[in-house]
Amino acid sequence: MAQEIKKIALLTGGGDCPGLNAVIRAVTKAAILNYGMEVIGYKFGYRGLYKNDFVPLTLDSVSGILNRGGTILYSSNKDNLFDYQVEEDGVIVKKDVSDVAVENLKKEGVDVLIVIGGDGTLTSARDFSRKGIKVIGVPKTIDNDLASTDVTFGFNTAIDVVTEALDRLHTTAESHHRIMLCEVMGRNAGWIALEAGIAGSADVILIPEIPYDINKIAEKVREREAEGKNFTIVVVAEGAKPKNGEVVVSKIVKDSPDPIRLGGIGNKLAEDLERLIVDHEVRCTVLGHIQRGGNTSTYDRILSTRYGVAAVELIREGKFGHMVCLKGDTISSDTLENVIGQQTKLVNPEGELVQIAKKIGTTFAE
Ligand code: F6P
Repeated sequence: MAQEIKKIALLTGGGDCPGLNAVIRAVTKAAILNYGMEVIGYKFGYRGLYKNDFVPLTLDSVSGILNRGGTILYSSNKDNLFDYQVEEDGVIVKKDVSDVAVENLKKEGVDVLIVIGGDGTLTSARDFSRKGIKVIGVPKTIDNDLASTDVTFGFNTAIDVVTEALDRLHTTAESHHRIMLCEVMGRNAGWIALEAGIAGSADVILIPEIPYDINKIAEKVREREAEGKNFTIVVVAEGAKPKNGEVVVSKIVKDSPDPIRLGGIGNKLAEDLERLIVDHEVRCTVLGHIQRGGNTSTYDRILSTRYGVAAVELIREGKFGHMVCLKGDTISSDTLENVIGQQTKLVNPEGELVQIAKKIGTTFAE
């Protein structure tokens, strides 16, 4: 097997996140230094594969990128080659152009494609694997909602950012006796809100998996006042919703395979809370893409490096159609079929993290 694999290609797809560059670096270094493989990187995810737009990845070109967020290969969350927007006779139509990508891989002599992405990007990776392409997946997303792995890289950096923001909100909230809301990302999963909420000592954590009752938030504010604490910190996931209510959608990105962008619940809830708790000012901070930018955390640098090296080892073992994953503290792998066949990984309302938060007095406003 080892002798057959001479050239590998990488691409990064979906929303960017800290650690992508660390994976690119680890794959490139491990493949070149240990096995003398040639490495190229397609630009802008699958779009680059379709357009045959790539750059060589060398020891030189991946030097100095370990700590840097973003991706030197750029990314796109719009280009599903199995349902791709093309212009035909002046009309925009959607077509399966995956055969063009397969041809491009053949033309460049690429033996294995390493796809670094979240569920959308890895769904296409599985589909290329079904077409006979040798594919390896690497799990990325700040949302940590991918099945089969305990942790996706990028998540740790995001919760570090949110935790620091919550620390900062504490001092200003206390000075003004305010209720401070912090809206965080995560799509339909509450991992970012939950873990950063615990680390940042939030009084109220609102997650999609546990619909909230606004009156319970007000109760918490009163309870804290009775203890002499005249401020309250609320972390609210963008996918959180009230009991019997709906999520707040900020945007529909029409040409994206996953067009719904959540966001706006923080400001809406702040308005509603201010009506309910008239003697406190309520403010909302929306962290947005700050959670995805900047430097990569120490944990994510290490995890991304482990994933990158493991991806090259999977190639050596001939385990194509697999995604590297982390179970406990052990790196292993699962088939892309299995990863994509499962629901996204959500917070278990009965799970340990929710329970420990409750035991120390944090409320989910159920
Ligand atoms: O999946 C990562 C993520 O940052 C989500 O947490 C968020 O809902 C979404 O992407 C935002 O997407 P965009 O970058 O298109 O605004």
